[in-house]
Amino acid sequence: MSTLNAQRGEIVPATSAPGILDRATKSKIDAVEGWLTDREAAFLYHAARTCTLVGGIVEIGSFKGKSTVCLGLGSTAGTRLPIYAIDPHDTEIQAVHNAGASSLPVFERNIAEAGVAHLVTQIPEYSGDVGRNWIRPIAFLWIDGDHSYEGALRDAVLFAPWVVDGGIVAFHDATQGALPQVVRRVFGDAHYSRLGIVDSIVYATKSAVARKSLRDVLVLAALSQYGRARTLARALHLRDLFKRGLRLLR
Ligand SMILES: C[S@@+](CC[C@H](N)C(=O)[O-])C[C@H]1O[C@@H](n2cnc3c(N)ncnc32)[C@H](O)[C@@H]1O
Repeated sequence: MSTLNAQRGEIVPATSAPGILDRATKSKIDAVEGWLTDREAAFLYHAARTCTLVGGIVEIGSFKGKSTVCLGLGSTAGTRLPIYAIDPHDTEIQAVHNAGASSLPVFERNIAEAGVAHLVTQIPEYSGDVGRNWIRPIAFLWIDGDHSYEGALRDAVLFAPWVVDGGIVAFHDATQGALPQVVRRVFGDAHYSRLGIVDSIVYATKSAVARKSLRDVLVLAALSQYGRARTLARALHLRDLFKRGLRLLR
């Protein structure tokens, strides 16, 4: 079983397979539709499991509850921190990925079937509205809601001040679209260190006495290169397709 080393802010594999989950946990997570990779699911589970700080876990963007189940199972195996799951369940995502219907009924069924419903407070509102009145300490802030620059930045601006010393902030899809820019801006702040990347998740520890290591600086620098790297990869892929096409014509 892997553990999240809160001191260094990284997943530390105790076995040869990093971020491994036991079969029962994995099958409960696999049963829920969503966008997490296995490694991302394992990160969320272990981060929630090893959270011993005062405060709750805040999830922005739940959809059908895949990440909520990861957090809930991790919290159950750890210190049973409460989870606040914020999602109006009625956005563009439901229009495109749930035939325009609310994802709330499926979300509720999924967290009940995974046995974590008792830990979850569902808040069916937009994070901007919730954040303006938020007054609870947060041990782990998981941001996977509005993926626009303004939306993701607003989530960080409203909720991150409530993250306690030693708490973790993590963004999903942080290597895509507008998110690298948001993450660089938020984690570039002096209070964040021990940065890490797990597939498309980028996370950091918030601390009053944070000092960025060379590794932190490199992670931030790598994020600024993601856009360029993607363009290059696409160009190489296109060149490859072109070459294969030429070979077929010969
Ligand atoms: C990518 S999905 C979340 C996926 C989920 N975390 C999972 O693991 O399957 C994004 C979700 O964010 C929600 N969302 C979009 N804008 C939001 C906002 N401003 N506040 C809260 N939730 C929002 C959408 O309704 C959608 O369900």
